[in-house]
Amino acid sequence: MKIKQSIEELFPTPLWILDVQPSDAAAFNARLKVEIEKIMARPKVPSGSNWQTPQDLHSRPEFAELAQLIEIAARSVSQFLGIEQHPMMITGCWANINPPGSYHPTHNHPNNYLSGVYYVAVPDAGSHLVFQDPRPLAMTPATTKPTRFTSNASLALPQPGRMVIFPSWLRHHVPSNEGTTERISIAFNLMFTNFAETMAAPRWKPSAGQAG
Ligand SMILES: [Fe+2]
Repeated sequence: MKIKQSIEELFPTPLWILDVQPSDAAAFNARLKVEIEKIMARPKVPSGSNWQTPQDLHSRPEFAELAQLIEIAARSVSQFLGIEQHPMMITGCWANINPPGSYHPTHNHPNNYLSGVYYVAVPDAGSHLVFQDPRPLAMTPATTKPTRFTSNASLALPQPGRMVIFPSWLRHHVPSNEGTTERISIAFNLMFTNFAETMAAPRWKPSAGQAG
């Protein structure tokens, strides 16, 4: 008896990876680094600690080019998802400096639809962004080869000039910086500009005689 097998992927969790051309990224990142340093006005960062700017970088003229890049990316994601009729806005945008030994514990980004990070500088040893399986009771059986169907975590590989966008509910962490140089990233959140006015009302049609 012959059997034909097909596989459907239910509830996929997308990650969007956008790379600025390397020829443009180097100069762009150098400009961003200068502006971030101006805001930080930091003494030497002690090993293992993190530094963050205020969360309003998107409204500062010095970061207009980055804000424009995020907005273009958000429109592209909206188009992919078929929700381009509901514009999104940046609700927060801040830079992180993580020297060797520093890490970000597990978290997600409440009250937003999409979140993302842009990499200005990546340590020489690399630096993963680790996403955790959101499914309850996930199992990780021993396998002959690891695949995304059986793993309980997934990595995004940062590189300078790369932007990663993901659903805000997806929990993630950044392991300790094992390199000898700093990781510099700019994180951001995106939310529908007029969520309550345009998206929150019930979309089902009441049937005749149905009580609320
Ligand atoms: Fe995050």
